[in-house]
Amino acid sequence: MKLNTVYDKVKTGYVVATTTDIDDWKRFGGEALGLHMDVRGPDLLSFRVDDRERRLIIRKGETNDIATIGLEIANEDALETILSRLKERSVDVTEVAGKEADIRGVDRFWKLVGPKKIAVEMFLTARTIATAPEIKPSGFKVDEGGLCHLAITSREPASMLGFWREIFDARTSDQIVEKVPGVELLITFTRFNERHHSIAVAETKGMKMDPMPARIHHMALEVADVHDVIGAYERCRALGYKISMSIGRHTNDHAISFYVQSPSGFDVEFSCDGIRVNDALEDFPEGKVHHGISEWGHLPEGRGIRDEIAQLRRGVSSLFRPEYKVF
Ligand SMILES: [Fe+2]
Repeated sequence: MKLNTVYDKVKTGYVVATTTDIDDWKRFGGEALGLHMDVRGPDLLSFRVDDRERRLIIRKGETNDIATIGLEIANEDALETILSRLKERSVDVTEVAGKEADIRGVDRFWKLVGPKKIAVEMFLTARTIATAPEIKPSGFKVDEGGLCHLAITSREPASMLGFWREIFDARTSDQIVEKVPGVELLITFTRFNERHHSIAVAETKGMKMDPMPARIHHMALEVADVHDVIGAYERCRALGYKISMSIGRHTNDHAISFYVQSPSGFDVEFSCDGIRVNDALEDFPEGKVHHGISEWGHLPEGRGIRDEIAQLRRGVSSLFRPEYKVF
């Protein structure tokens, strides 16, 4: 049965990323972030944060990047609605089972080439494990809001937002205008469910540039409380991982978090206390715009002129590279 809306029937379930340095991810994921690690082979790791068998999957590859976002769909009716919307727009979808599904901890999944050629995969049920994960934080918040959120810089923001809105009924929570030297950013925060945002899309005002080293800027995991954020921040620093932004508090979802560079080229944001959006709340009028991403903190650490030049170079070279659009 096709549904009118799949809002609240979609949540982030797993992420697959690639790295050229699998040993660095063992140290980063296991020791610094404190996730439960399972080594699946010389080229494959998976991490747990709750009863799910696999949440974050790391594969050895030629590049450091995200590969896939896995979306958990609440039921077969919602999946049918999503698949029919994709078919109406002539988007190719492949059903996959077997080894690739095993790697993701699911029995089967439906896959398409998403915006920026990030694979978007959908599944109905994931395998669980009875034993509790061995994690350093006191807990991860993977409730109705799902595993994480992703922040994606886009040179085609209308298409990118259209994809998430038209296929998954993503709703806009709010926007932030952020000024960084030489550039003004507009970030649109969209949600699949009560989590304030599952997908945030950032665009440069004026000429559209994408200066990020990976296809997403960051993925964010949410932990139980602020002590877990501070503990991870201290472990990341002690192990020499580069802190992109120190601990701070966001203006819109009020999350307290820090950002650290992962061995997959994108940042991991470690956060707590992000608000949930109840549509009855009047705090979320359509079109609310915040100025600046942070109430306090989130200061760059150890960022030098070489980082600024590298970012500018990537931004300029992105102008000559078309960004893949689904439709
Ligand atoms: Fe974030």
